Amino acid sequence: MQRGSFCYVNGAAVLEARNLTKEYPLGKENVRALDGVDFTAVQGDFAVINGPSGSGKTTLLNMLALIDRPSEGEVLFEEKPTSRLTEGELALLRREKIGLVFQTFNLIPVLSVAENVEYPLLLTKTPRGERRERVAARLDEVGLSGFGKRHPDELCGGQRQRVAVARALVAQPRLILADEPTANLDSATGKQIMELLQGLNTGHCVTFLVVTHDPSVLGYAQRVLTIRDGRIQGEEKRGAPRPA
Ligand SMILES: Nc1ncnc2c1ncn2[C@@H]1O[C@H](COP(=O)(O)OP(=O)(O)OP(=O)(O)O)[C@@H](O)[C@H]1O
Ligand SMILES: [Mg+2]
Repeated sequence: MQRGSFCYVNGAAVLEARNLTKEYPLGKENVRALDGVDFTAVQGDFAVINGPSGSGKTTLLNMLALIDRPSEGEVLFEEKPTSRLTEGELALLRREKIGLVFQTFNLIPVLSVAENVEYPLLLTKTPRGERRERVAARLDEVGLSGFGKRHPDELCGGQRQRVAVARALVAQPRLILADEPTANLDSATGKQIMELLQGLNTGHCVTFLVVTHDPSVLGYAQRVLTIRDGRIQGEEKRGAPRPA
């Protein structure tokens, strides 16, 4: 995808869940964490899935991120089914097309900030000079130029999450999935992170799906879906419609 200062939205489905079901074995019983979820994200969407603890948000995100496979149902990425892909093919899709942001930042403590952001590119054939340029550009974008040589333990929580956002963006993904990105941040810092994500959505046309139980995140969404007991219960459209 060409990055630019505007977002051309063609309505193509980036991600689709069809009848997604996930059961975890627990003793003699199974826990049904997802119970037939249908969901489509189109290019340029900023969707938030909101639900209480235990409602299946992380389970759903892991299925959509192609990290874990559903018990039943199908995840389509760019309109192609993924259930028959090999682990290697899934890994390639994840690497090239999906960025992930987690509640706990998941930075590698022994690596510097710049090395953390560069890390996804080491798994690709991106030449060294281009890697450096892209890391510098992404750090600048999240407001952390000049922090490249620091280590994660020398940053506050909001800065760590900014590094995680820069890392999620560095491979120029079509889609960013975020699991409770504000949960470990104070409300002012959480607001800054959400504003950053929103700017990346409108400025770069990256599709965002955020799962959270934090009500302050809902104000940033174009679409708010509610999940309870592993089922999507409803959807509310918010904000101005995107230009076609
Ligand atoms: N590996 C597992 N084994 C067994 N049960 C699991 C496993 N992972 C999740 N569950 C169960 O599946 C349900 C959904 O869990 P999930 O982590 O997706 O919820 P969540 O909405 O992300 O909650 P939170 O807001 O607390 O992060 C819960 O009942 C949970 O106990
Ligand atoms: Mg969770």
